[in-house]
Amino acid sequence: MSLKTAARQARDNAHAPYSGFAVGAAILTDKGNVYAGCNVENVAYPEGTCAEAGAIAAMVAAGERVIAEAYVIAESPKPVPPCGGCRQKLAEFAAGDVPVTMATISGLAETVTVADLLPGAFTADHMETP
Ligand code: THU
Repeated sequence: MSLKTAARQARDNAHAPYSGFAVGAAILTDKGNVYAGCNVENVAYPEGTCAEAGAIAAMVAAGERVIAEAYVIAESPKPVPPCGGCRQKLAEFAAGDVPVTMATISGLAETVTVADLLPGAFTADHMETP
């Protein structure tokens, strides 16, 4: 299944009664498998989770760790970029040159890289003892 189809299908299952903003995300791994997620909101608003986080959790639960490509889709006038927290979550499992496509239901799409989204990322290197 394509990333676009997987993300769209996951978006159809989004639980977003508070924002009304349904998001779908899909990830292609280095092994060629696709994992998808949607946003899951909560009446205690800060407890909601983003679509990207759901897709990443599904990937990790399946035993995979390497993102080769990511795709995010929402109904919006312009492509929706991952939030700050999701940029860091993507960077945990994706190299800087990994493409992230941000798409709209109406057909707009823009592709950037993980490094574009999170320049100067905090990494494990920063925790090395001098
Ligand atoms: N949201 C995502 O799932 N991914 C993004 O990249 C941006 C925002 C969700 C979080 C919340 O459920 C809703 O969109 C509105 O912020």
